[in-house]
Amino acid sequence: MSKKSFSILLALAMILALALVACGGSEEPAATEAPAPTKAPAEQPTEAPAEQPTEAPVVELFGDPLRGGMLYDKWWKVAGVDEPTADHPLWATQDSNTRSGADTWRCKECHGWDYKGVDGAYGSGSHTTGFAGILDLAGSDPSEILGMLQGSTNADHDFSAVMDEQALTDLAIFISEEMADMSVYVNTDKTPVSSDVALGEELFGECADCHGPEGLARNFHTAVNDPEYVGGLAAGNPWEALHKIRVGQPGTDMMSAVDAGWSDEEIAALLAYVQTLPEAPLVSNGGIMYDKWWKALDMDAPEGDMPLWATQDSNERSGADTWRCKECHGWDYQGVDGAYGSGSHQTGFAGIADASSMSAAEIVAWLDGSANADHDFSPYFDEGAMELMVAFIQDGLTDTSPYINSDKTVNGDPDAGEAFYEECGECHGDDGKAIMFGDESDPEYVGTIANDNPWEFLHKALNGQPGTHMLQGREMGWSIDDLINILAYAQTLPAE
Ligand code: HEC
Ligand code: HEC
Ligand code: HEC
Ligand code: HEC
Repeated sequence: MSKKSFSILLALAMILALALVACGGSEEPAATEAPAPTKAPAEQPTEAPAEQPTEAPVVELFGDPLRGGMLYDKWWKVAGVDEPTADHPLWATQDSNTRSGADTWRCKECHGWDYKGVDGAYGSGSHTTGFAGILDLAGSDPSEILGMLQGSTNADHDFSAVMDEQALTDLAIFISEEMADMSVYVNTDKTPVSSDVALGEELFGECADCHGPEGLARNFHTAVNDPEYVGGLAAGNPWEALHKIRVGQPGTDMMSAVDAGWSDEEIAALLAYVQTLPEAPLVSNGGIMYDKWWKALDMDAPEGDMPLWATQDSNERSGADTWRCKECHGWDYQGVDGAYGSGSHQTGFAGIADASSMSAAEIVAWLDGSANADHDFSPYFDEGAMELMVAFIQDGLTDTSPYINSDKTVNGDPDAGEAFYEECGECHGDDGKAIMFGDESDPEYVGTIANDNPWEFLHKALNGQPGTHMLQGREMGWSIDDLINILAYAQTLPAE
């Protein structure tokens, strides 16, 4: 039984018990007809307080503590209300944390991911506010906590104008029932409490379905030069990772370890294992840069045409497009010898498939202008970006010819691809039409790209899409055949 339904049952049981007390029990048959109140959990008062019939009955709140946990962060996203714009009224009472606007309204910003406020991880660093934690309230009466969220102790701490009562109730129940003392899982210096990495690895199997076997399939940030994957987050901010692992992630079908019934020992072991995972995938992130690298690096697009552009006149594009690696070297990495050997994208420039055998130094020489001064990306690529590009060129240039034919048909099995496509459908929809690319007059969908440009499709399915949180298929532990099967299935989806 899930935690949520348990809470509701508990609440129902309490209401029933109260109803029995209120009815006085003078009518014997009524008591026997009512669903057995003895099934209620032990904390429930077993003695009817018959001597004090005038005392106001305790109102048992009911709600979803895990939703409450998600509301602890950007509650407006979870509650579906407008994001606050002004600072929280209490923000002005501190000056060490210089954030402003919506961030100042996140519970975690003042009370910390470890719920310990100034006594925890936010006791130093840029997030310090000096505000106290709320961990002491674990186990206390949710109605009292609800009151605090409605301003009972401080009128400036009244959230009832911005969130409905159910949301505040969910938060109160989270704080009372599910807020964890993080020291059970992680030490203050971020080292893990558990040494059972093997158990953690086994449990991570559940996460790998979505995050990939090494946790590298989903970048929580959008930039490849400032990436954050589950391993890096667990090492850098274990409290944030733990909070999200326990309650789940808003707006996704991510699992919750609490809902799954994992014990403290299991969660501690999971954290210990996740902290051993690599920080970011080099090859796939280099692959994202092969397209609009400025979006992947979170910088402005370069101005003017790429200097080598003037040495061709068949492709009539101009400006930023002329700086995309793919525009000159092709989605199949074959340049003039591949799909861009004809059509509006034709430049006549060679491919780079052979460059995969070059040393890192030789590749960098091509990217920093030493090999050809007009092929210089060094004003834009720092050392980290160069490293990504080198990794991709050395290890990511898939030879597509065994899989994709020149007439754009593919040698894959759409039926086998359908199940894998579910991971894509989470964002793109079952029919591939949930996200529209192109523009209103010429809309494109996953099905359109799969049919019109299977090489582009494969490149993006493997590496990801610049400036987005798109899944990185190469990091999912799938084989190239699995990806080709996805492509074959996507070709059956509507193109318009
Ligand atoms: C701008 C900072 C700030 C934000 C945002 C904030 N709080 Fe607080 N919170 C405080 C301060 C300061 C206090 C102490 C107020 C007082 O009693 O004077 C407090 C007190 C509390 C208390 C009572 C603690 C106790 O031991 O008396 C609870 C519970 C609480 N906050 C929960 C929340 C929740 C849940 C959220 C998110 C919906 C939240 N807070 C958002 C600053 C903040
Ligand atoms: C059903 C798919 C799914 C499963 C299973 C899953 N996750 Fe997630 N997880 C997601 C998605 C989607 C996101 C949001 C990614 C984004 O922001 O782009 C996410 C986000 C996260 C985040 C927070 C990232 C942030 O925003 O800071 C953490 C931490 C995390 N997952 C860890 C785990 C762990 C550990 C497990 C296994 C216990 C797990 N996830 C299981 C889909 C899943
Ligand atoms: C405007 C077109 C254009 C763009 C954009 C472009 N290149 Fe090139 N690239 C060329 C041309 C032309 C050559 C061959 C130049 C020569 O022979 O002097 C070349 C050569 C190379 C080589 C050496 C290939 C070999 O086998 O010798 C590599 C590697 C390379 N480019 C990678 C990239 C990467 C990575 C990007 C994106 C960051 C990129 N290029 C963007 C036109 C372009
Ligand atoms: C977490 C959400 C998410 C998942 C999962 C996801 N995508 Fe995407 N995808 C996006 C976003 C966002 C875009 C970019 C839309 C834009 O740039 O306008 C995109 C773009 C694309 C594009 C390129 C469209 C274009 O013309 O630029 C292709 C192809 C694609 N996705 C295929 C896939 C495949 C195949 C999968 C599964 C392996 C997948 N996506 C999984 C979010 C996702």
